Amino acid sequence: MNAKRTATKPPRAKTNRAKFGAAAYEGLSGKIPTPFPRHIGGNAMAYLKEVVDSGLTCNMTERFEAAFAKTVGVKHCIATPGCTPALAVLAASLRLKPGDEVIFSPVTDYGTLMGFIKEDIIPVFADTAPGSINLSAKTIEPCITGRTRAVVVVHKTGIICDMDPINALAKKHGLIVIEDCCQAVMGRYKGRLAGTLGHAAGFSFDSEKTMGSDTGGCLVTNDDDLASYARFIGHSRGAEMRPGFGRIHSAAGYAHRMPLCTAAISLAQLEIVHENVQRRDRIARLITSGLAKIPGVIPLPIPKYLDTYSCWMLGFNIDPTAFTCTVDEFAQQCDAMGLPGAGTARYYLMPAALTFLQEMAASQTYPFSTPPTAHGYKYSADNCPTAAAFLDTFIRWVTVCDKYTDEHCATAVQIVRAVAERNRK
Ligand SMILES: Cc1ncc(COP(=O)(O)O)c(C=O)c1O
Repeated sequence: MNAKRTATKPPRAKTNRAKFGAAAYEGLSGKIPTPFPRHIGGNAMAYLKEVVDSGLTCNMTERFEAAFAKTVGVKHCIATPGCTPALAVLAASLRLKPGDEVIFSPVTDYGTLMGFIKEDIIPVFADTAPGSINLSAKTIEPCITGRTRAVVVVHKTGIICDMDPINALAKKHGLIVIEDCCQAVMGRYKGRLAGTLGHAAGFSFDSEKTMGSDTGGCLVTNDDDLASYARFIGHSRGAEMRPGFGRIHSAAGYAHRMPLCTAAISLAQLEIVHENVQRRDRIARLITSGLAKIPGVIPLPIPKYLDTYSCWMLGFNIDPTAFTCTVDEFAQQCDAMGLPGAGTARYYLMPAALTFLQEMAASQTYPFSTPPTAHGYKYSADNCPTAAAFLDTFIRWVTVCDKYTDEHCATAVQIVRAVAERNRK
């Protein structure tokens, strides 16, 4: 077994396993809706029927890929079972070398990084910009070294990173820019759609995401060579046909093809995505302006450049000095009053959450050994003090959905206001 695999401990017998999708929402209730059961685009049954009636011979996945690429305005879409696989395929297709560094947003989901870690890439976490949940060109710049090859930016909650300065910085240093658009599907930055703002981008259509269609996702790019290699790596398992022999595997590829049934639902979800996103934009702006009027409550700021706020998750910081309760108590009271699943989100801080990475770096397990690296790495919340402090006072509730009416938005604000007044110093 590879040494790096032995560095992680086997799961304990009674591991309290994380839940995903609808299972993570079980038992949650409140005064505003949760995404489940999902709204599904009206053509889903017809598309699913086509898949079944064709005896699995129809080209539903290719149809979805073509439709998604056209909607986003990119040349290529490679559909996968989720964004974690999409970015894993991308990481394996970029021809990076073990020990190369890639800079990441520190506040994100594990799926942003997983594929890069498996390629023996060293993740480097840029801090967030003050008052923001996202990184910026200014916070990326000090992380750039002679080994940096790429930057993976995450448009967290649906707020698109300020991409023009990031792209200018990347150009100066010859870095590839990759967008993680999981939480910003069809969001618009200065007139341009998320997914068109870098070299390549990953999307998630996981059941709780904006275009939820079960475990779906994709990779998009305008780069013909990258797209063709990513398809070879991601869909063909790195296999090619040799005359007289058959299949040879000239690269260690994956079988990360989006299933036909997921493609059928994804296509139907794509047909209603713009309407869905317009609702989310309205909901986010309504709730944000309501929360901003509550002293001691600081909603996520909406940058002026964000033309369409494809909001997936809403949240706010509290000023702990304004209240008699702790941040966790404030969140619990919001939940008890009807904001479903209100809680803190410290787990989004990747250098603190990836304990296996901390262990690998501390024990200098490959690729944290010399070679390929020339110095030690350490992962903890201390990597990103601004992000850690931000998340310490940040509260969010379960993901926003298109079911919210204006009354639901008002109710969400009223709940936060009531908790704030009850605990005000
Ligand atoms: C920002 C971000 N990146 C990556 C992922 C992983 O996506 P998937 O669940 O489709 O693999 C998620 C999903 O939670 C996400 O929110």
